[in-house]
Amino acid sequence: MTEAPPTRVFGRRKGRPLRVRKAMLMDEFLPRVQLVLREGEKLEVTAPLVLEIGFGGGEHLAAQAKLHPETHFIGCEPFVNGVASLLDHLEREKIENVRVFNDDARLVLDALPPASLERCFVLFADPWPKSRHAERRFIGPENLPRLARAIKKGGVLRLASDHPGLVAWMRESLTGHADFTCIYDSSTPPPDWVPTRYQEKAIAAGRTPFFMDYRRN
Ligand SMILES: C[S@@+](CC[C@H](N)C(=O)[O-])C[C@H]1O[C@@H](n2cnc3c(N)ncnc32)[C@H](O)[C@@H]1O
Repeated sequence: MTEAPPTRVFGRRKGRPLRVRKAMLMDEFLPRVQLVLREGEKLEVTAPLVLEIGFGGGEHLAAQAKLHPETHFIGCEPFVNGVASLLDHLEREKIENVRVFNDDARLVLDALPPASLERCFVLFADPWPKSRHAERRFIGPENLPRLARAIKKGGVLRLASDHPGLVAWMRESLTGHADFTCIYDSSTPPPDWVPTRYQEKAIAAGRTPFFMDYRRN
């Protein structure tokens, strides 16, 4: 296995113990859909490819994969309970165009050929609100070059957040960026939007999510 870059960017890997079905899915179904990266390995891309970074419970990824059966999807999520929840969707809904990477998305970004992604989703990323943790925010100076390398010209980086500090930080990081142009920024979801669990939690708590699309120049 390859090792993640040193900056820590995600929180916990494990939550509550998994129930029987989800534990079984982790043991028996995950190996069938898992993306395993060996040291230095480069990924081959044979179809239109979309990446979701931090898919949480996987609702959005599963729904996107169903909407676009001709597209291949890779979902990255280090949180085991989230992975188990995505597996539940994939198995029950017979979704066959998703590969699951149970670790840091930076490893996948670095293993992809240049200009290989049609779209990349980073939705409701951990806000890391303290300024001393700013380097952990996924969208920032460390990862934008990685994303710019992996997304093809004309491809889209889709971001969303309900955290005002993170929204401002992402806008600031991308405004005037040589590789990305903002093509959508609104509190109304874009037309092909699929709800995510964190979006629903934010709305239930009275917070306003923002949705942003950046086109790779
Ligand atoms: C706040 S949750 C949002 C989950 C989901 N996108 C949603 O909207 O419901 C952020 C997720 O990003 C994941 N994450 C953070 N850093 C990551 C990284 N470097 N690679 C992959 N996932 C990451 C976390 O484990 C967490 O589950």
